[in-house]
Amino acid sequence: MRRPTLAGTFASVREGLGARVKLNNGVQMPWFGLGVFQVPRDSDAAAAVRAAIELGYRSIDTAALYRNERGVGEGLKSSGVPREELFVTTKVWNDDIRAGRVEAAFNHSLKLLGLDYVDLYLLHWPIRGRSVEAWRALERLLRSGRVRAIGVSNYMIPHLEELLAAAAVVPAVNQIEFHPYLQSKPLVAHCQRHGIQVEAWSPLQQAGPLLRDPVLTAIARRLQRTVAQVVLRWDVQSGIATIPKTVHPARLAENAAIFDFALTDADMAAIAALDRNERNGADPFTFNF
Ligand SMILES: NC(=O)c1ccc[n+]([C@@H]2O[C@H](COP(=O)([O-])OP(=O)(O)OC[C@H]3O[C@@H](n4cnc5c(N)ncnc54)[C@H](OP(=O)(O)O)[C@@H]3O)[C@@H](O)[C@H]2O)c1
Repeated sequence: MRRPTLAGTFASVREGLGARVKLNNGVQMPWFGLGVFQVPRDSDAAAAVRAAIELGYRSIDTAALYRNERGVGEGLKSSGVPREELFVTTKVWNDDIRAGRVEAAFNHSLKLLGLDYVDLYLLHWPIRGRSVEAWRALERLLRSGRVRAIGVSNYMIPHLEELLAAAAVVPAVNQIEFHPYLQSKPLVAHCQRHGIQVEAWSPLQQAGPLLRDPVLTAIARRLQRTVAQVVLRWDVQSGIATIPKTVHPARLAENAAIFDFALTDADMAAIAALDRNERNGADPFTFNF
């Protein structure tokens, strides 16, 4: 099966931001969105979400953990864009998975967001011994119509295998740490085989050394782009949905300006060769929260 990618270019950033990938249940998710991790003040989250939507962003990724769902909801509402044009993702936190409180946690998120449904609801981390039960709760939410698609985050191959053996619904998305220094090729191929769309978290390695990488810098210079733009273009051109975070309007515009140029096959190969299995965030096999 060929992995869907966003290989083409668009006449405008706005058009590119509207481009969607069809998930395994037919729901269409934007390839590109805004992440709002580490934006603790609701007023900042509201301002970033509103500014992003004004630029043409249609997908916002939050989580109960980020404690800004109320601000995200305010930003969505104040944008004036009809709800059905927006794609909102949130996630159930580990404590609620452990305590078997997924549905109550979902209801709370929905209330804070001020919405009557979310587009994508994710299990935030694979909690040993609790995934299957939590997944059944997500399947019930899907049936209730208050979630349009359900998925997981930080699931490695063994976690997916355990879930798939018991699941009635195959996850639509697996959101994982993914950037040129952590490409997790076997995991991405496994997701693809099962029709699970991969979505990149920390696509810019949280503005780490990646943004000064000499290979990426050379590509960026040749294309007269920034390294962030090269990396985000590489995501979508590789078939990976991406949700870079920024609260600065200039960077919201910079990050989204990836739809009017393409990387060459040689660029794609040079970036593929940067993989060094370097994880910035927690390891899904050993995390302790
Ligand atoms: N599922 C999970 O477990 C999980 C874990 C982590 C993250 N996520 C999601 O993924 C999203 C993105 O990941 P992330 O926030 O960890 O990291 P990221 O998007 O890789 O990087 C964000 C950092 O890069 C800076 N930045 C953004 N654009 C830039 C640019 N063009 N040039 C230079 N610096 C730039 C931001 O600063 P400014 O804001 O100051 O611009 C911020 O410090 C999160 O917001 C969250 O929604 C999910």
